[in-house]
Amino acid sequence: MPQYWTDLVNRLTPYVPGEQRSGTGVIKLNTNENPYPPSDQVLAAINNVTADALRRYPDPQSADLRQALAQYHGVNLDQVFVGNGSDEILALAFMAFFKGKKPLTFPEISYSFYPVYCDLCNITAKMIPLNNDFSLSPDSLSGDCGGIIFPNPNAPTSMAVSKSDIEKLLQDNPNVVVLVDEAYADFGADSVIGLIKQYPNLVVSRTYSKGRSLAGLRIGAAFANANLIEGIRRVKDSFNSYPLDVIAQAAGVASIEDDAYYQKTTRKIIATRERTIELLKGLGYTVLPSSANFIFASPADKNAKRIFSELNKRNILVRYWEHEKLDQWLRITIGTDIEMDKLIQAIKDIS
Ligand SMILES: Cc1ncc(COP(=O)(O)O)c(C=O)c1O
Repeated sequence: MPQYWTDLVNRLTPYVPGEQRSGTGVIKLNTNENPYPPSDQVLAAINNVTADALRRYPDPQSADLRQALAQYHGVNLDQVFVGNGSDEILALAFMAFFKGKKPLTFPEISYSFYPVYCDLCNITAKMIPLNNDFSLSPDSLSGDCGGIIFPNPNAPTSMAVSKSDIEKLLQDNPNVVVLVDEAYADFGADSVIGLIKQYPNLVVSRTYSKGRSLAGLRIGAAFANANLIEGIRRVKDSFNSYPLDVIAQAAGVASIEDDAYYQKTTRKIIATRERTIELLKGLGYTVLPSSANFIFASPADKNAKRIFSELNKRNILVRYWEHEKLDQWLRITIGTDIEMDKLIQAIKDIS
């Protein structure tokens, strides 16, 4: 163990994000970023941030942004929290609701940050296998535990579960917090934000990184009843009072005001997704039904690793995991139609 490290730091296995390769000719389909830019209104809001605003600390409560989100989603201001990306919100929620309790339940195949936060917070992970077809039965997450978390749609499988199944899970597990990570919900899953009024144990997290084309700015939001939001805020204010800078707060409000633009780019991504799925199926790929801005696909010969490295050599980046249940699969972010055509051509060339 390197000198000065704590035992905890020595034990950690940190999360490894997808490669951020840049340069001309790179087709980046590996981190589920949006292929379209943020709207002009958002760029104008960023440009309009004044020197005086930059000189000062930002509003620690991000009231304008929370108000815009509250109005957009039809909830109260005290039912909204914002943070530096939804990753930060997840970390704060782990500390607020799961640390020091019984094991945290989540699907064995889901967002790989969950086990990392468990390690960081010394929480035991109770991982539940998916069904053989990679679908998730929310019922399987029920039972004795200190909390439940899952993405909807799930990642990296892209499949969504229904609102009624989530509602049953909430009813069956009233004594623990159920955190639904809706990072990709803009692309087709039923949101359960509306259920926070009925279920005092529900937290829903969202992100601007996918549907709102602002991964570089780091904006996440959480929705829950006022007591749970207050719990997250207490952890935030014991850690970093100002998680969102003035630029992020201004851009976040402008993005909500220009919602029509994002509805349009989201529709385009969904159309490209469905087209790409058909093209890949035509090449013999198995592709799971997707409600996200990415797809999960397996080549006919199951040799996903070869396709991954051949695409990589051609500057087309997709995601591949050396994991016994995932190593026949590729997770491919939906880019523009032109990018996806280049992907399909490269796959044809490789085969
Ligand atoms: C399921 C899931 N949740 C949360 C996040 C974090 O998003 P961000 O921190 O960019 O808001 C991601 C990012 O890829 C994700 O896949």
